[in-house]
Amino acid sequence: MIVIYKHRRYNHRKRRRNGELGHRKKPVVMITKPKRVPSGPSEKFDPSQDLLSWLCDHFTQFGNLFKASIYGSDVFVVSDPRYAHYVLRENWQNYKKGQAIKRVGLLLGNGLMVSEGEFWKSQRRMIQPAFHSDVMGALLNVITTANVKLLRKWEDAAQKRGTVNVTRDISLMILEVVLISIFGDDYEQVAEPFSILSSESARDLQFAQAFRALGKIVVQIATRRRKESRMCADLLGMLMEARDRETGERMPDRQLVSEIMTLIVAGHETTASTLNWTWYLLSEHPDVEEKLSRELGSLPSIEVLELRDFQKLAYTRQVIEETMRLYPAGWLMTRRALREDKLGDYIVPAGTEIYISPFLIQRHPDLWTAPERFDPDRFGSEQDQSQHALAMLPFSAGPRKCIGESFARIEMQIHMAMIAKSLRLRCVGRTIVELDAGVNLRNKHDFIMVPEIKAPAVQ
Ligand code: HEM
Repeated sequence: MIVIYKHRRYNHRKRRRNGELGHRKKPVVMITKPKRVPSGPSEKFDPSQDLLSWLCDHFTQFGNLFKASIYGSDVFVVSDPRYAHYVLRENWQNYKKGQAIKRVGLLLGNGLMVSEGEFWKSQRRMIQPAFHSDVMGALLNVITTANVKLLRKWEDAAQKRGTVNVTRDISLMILEVVLISIFGDDYEQVAEPFSILSSESARDLQFAQAFRALGKIVVQIATRRRKESRMCADLLGMLMEARDRETGERMPDRQLVSEIMTLIVAGHETTASTLNWTWYLLSEHPDVEEKLSRELGSLPSIEVLELRDFQKLAYTRQVIEETMRLYPAGWLMTRRALREDKLGDYIVPAGTEIYISPFLIQRHPDLWTAPERFDPDRFGSEQDQSQHALAMLPFSAGPRKCIGESFARIEMQIHMAMIAKSLRLRCVGRTIVELDAGVNLRNKHDFIMVPEIKAPAVQ
């Protein structure tokens, strides 16, 4: 596996004195000498560079909190989970989304990912019930059906000793799951137009225009459902019925479109890229793959399985968790301070952008033993209980954490259980890993792999 950045031992003694580093066992004292402005690189971030590598390099040099100039804003890059906790949970009301959200807004409109304040709160309240665990149970069939189709395709390739494009196939499968969950029986109408999410990898202005134009299909489907008085139990149906707690009003169509487009995009690439990384890591770590096979070997046939059977698969969950630690799809969360604030003993002037990168925190050498190593056992029953809860934050934290976390977890767990029970995937030749840290963390190249059918487990 590639080492993304080498951690030069920067001055730990000094950082511990400054209260930047926690101690695992002793209570932490964050404030020592008043120190108002964090240090950081004197040069501005050059947008032609790769932002993730640039942040990694400067984290190595400056540590848990450094000041930088990025895209014309003053930024504090924070990699101490206690600072992340403060910004995302404790004083979250003082922080709105950072500048980067403007580009997301061009693609998605003012949906849940982008909206702010009271409007966001009321939308979140209206949408949250659609992600309740009971509703998720109903998706079991949708997820297993899509995975049976994928399994047959890969088994067929295995029999022919062929290869499969894991990146593309997973992307298509996840898109199908997301679209059926949202549009239910109207899936056929959206499948083809929305396939650009899978076939187009660029997320530029041209893509945004093409994607936004698809909003009219959402309106057409909603209008027809109303005309036919057709109530549907899919996500679109639930959002069409949702009412604002205070006003009792339903969402206007324009808002419905923004919310649906948000769910499609947020639910597709994140989950697909996580699974893509999982297959890559398994192919590089046969010992982990073997242990996973042992857990899945005892699983009865898929037809008799219920949701809770999948949820019980502890090692499968650990493999996914460890993948998200190393390759968090949402690798950067940005916020902007509304009013002046303090982080430890540093002053945060109003307007400062705060960058919180799960990638940096989840590979932090002071928080994780051998952070570059893929080791799902670190999430086993022996897991270090003294570790800060936000040493892992792939779905963010606080009121604006991912609304689709349970959905994504169920989807990924079922996919891994169904496919890895029957198949092993091996990378072809030398696999090149080059991170593409765009909206989500992806590999620049598709993973092409050879599927092999596993011998059935001896019961
Ligand atoms: C492995 C899969 C996923 C990962 C890693 C992930 C990660 C994240 C992260 C880190 C955020 C917070 C962004 C920020 O604060 O700036 C977020 C927010 C969000 N996610 Fe996910 N997500 C995943 C799957 C999903 C799915 C399946 C859906 C829906 C179908 C979804 C819908 C959303 C929405 C709507 C928000 C905005 C929530 C709000 O601000 O109220 N995500 N996600």
